[in-house]
Amino acid sequence: MVGGGAREDAICRNLSDHGHKVHACLSNRNPSILGRSSGYTIVSETDWETISSVASVLSPDLVFVSPDAALDTPLVDTLLSSGHAVASPSRKAAMIETSKHFMRSVMERYSIEGNVWNRTFSDRDEMRKTVLAMKEEIVVKPLGLTGGKGVRVMGDHFSTREEGLAYAEEIISKDGRVLIEEKLRGEEFSLQAFCDGSRVIPMPLAQDYKRAFEGDTGPNTGGMGSITDSSFLLPFVTGENRNRALRILEKIARALREEGSPFTGILYGQFMVSREGVRVIEINARFADPEGINMLALMDDDLGEVLMKVATGDLNRNVKFTGKASVLKYVVPVGYGSAPEPGDLSIDRGIERADVRLFYASVSGTVERVTMSRSRALAIVALSDSIPEASGKVDASLAMVHGRFSVRKDIGTEQMIRKKMQSLGYPAP
Ligand code: AMP
Ligand code: GLY
Repeated sequence: MVGGGAREDAICRNLSDHGHKVHACLSNRNPSILGRSSGYTIVSETDWETISSVASVLSPDLVFVSPDAALDTPLVDTLLSSGHAVASPSRKAAMIETSKHFMRSVMERYSIEGNVWNRTFSDRDEMRKTVLAMKEEIVVKPLGLTGGKGVRVMGDHFSTREEGLAYAEEIISKDGRVLIEEKLRGEEFSLQAFCDGSRVIPMPLAQDYKRAFEGDTGPNTGGMGSITDSSFLLPFVTGENRNRALRILEKIARALREEGSPFTGILYGQFMVSREGVRVIEINARFADPEGINMLALMDDDLGEVLMKVATGDLNRNVKFTGKASVLKYVVPVGYGSAPEPGDLSIDRGIERADVRLFYASVSGTVERVTMSRSRALAIVALSDSIPEASGKVDASLAMVHGRFSVRKDIGTEQMIRKKMQSLGYPAP
């Protein structure tokens, strides 16, 4: 397994709980992963040459490359050409995430519904003319991977078209090209699915909270937390809208197969639901972080067996998930998202129970005392019958984490859910 965050801790935990032996390739000394794996290599996730030589020495039954940065290297292609079974997409198939231009153009060429108005510009004058003539608000995106932090949305991150154009010109100077999209309004949701190149097996829906502060304010982050519901839908996403999103993922998988690059791995769509329907914000080529951790905490199945089926094109069954709601909250250093002040945290033994799990993210140290980096530290996930109950359980367990940290208590509260339902015109629960 490649990767060393909370998502990979959750992957490693499912694998070791099902009796699989894991060798982890990770850049940080994540105490939980190191404790559970039978071996590890401390290596940069993008150092594909070292990681492929580790694989050739160990000759594992299966390789899983988790983080997006590693998928944007020759790693998977090299492993596949040496004959390894790999449950992750080839570099070309991963372009559905690593090139936003490729994703939008696949949707256009295969007439896949849910696309949004978008254009890639390299010419500043043409961009200026087009943007100033638009009625809609805009979103400015670098084309490649930015860890969720390069996208700027009008009304949230800048207020005038001129400010948006200035940022877009900055990106053109750096990358040569920039993507401008029409701004969508509504509620975002995530649908992740296992894909073996042709079959698409869905997981429960989730919602990610990207803003640093309560009430969805402050800078965008890698994600402060996420929720799922016991119905596997969300209070503000109907079964019909979820089926629309699933059909979009199926069509994308078919399009990639027709392009000669079948997608093997986790296909993860970020969608926006509004009164007008379901549209695509992003397609990713991996488990979401944090929402993937909710999936792994809910998964009542052997991930190793499922991933082997993904790798061998034999995904001939559904994957089982516990019928509970789940809420995840990330414990982060104070100032995360702008000027983080990392310190140490100590964690009481006994924080984990049957319905509360703790996953270690960008930290080092021991399971009882960790040193934070500038990034997210601990993911606490609770399962319960309802989203607000699960949210309360996470909050109660925070009393067992000691040190200076921030956490968003509002994620999954009844008040927050009511507000989202009202904004979409649904009756409040
Ligand atoms: P991305 O890195 O593309 O996932 O974008 C980060 C965040 O920017 C998304 O989760 C959305 O909240 C927002 N965003 C991206 N594209 C759009 C869009 N076309 N309309 C509105 N918001 C968007
Ligand atoms: N949940 C955001 C991401 O994984 O990109």
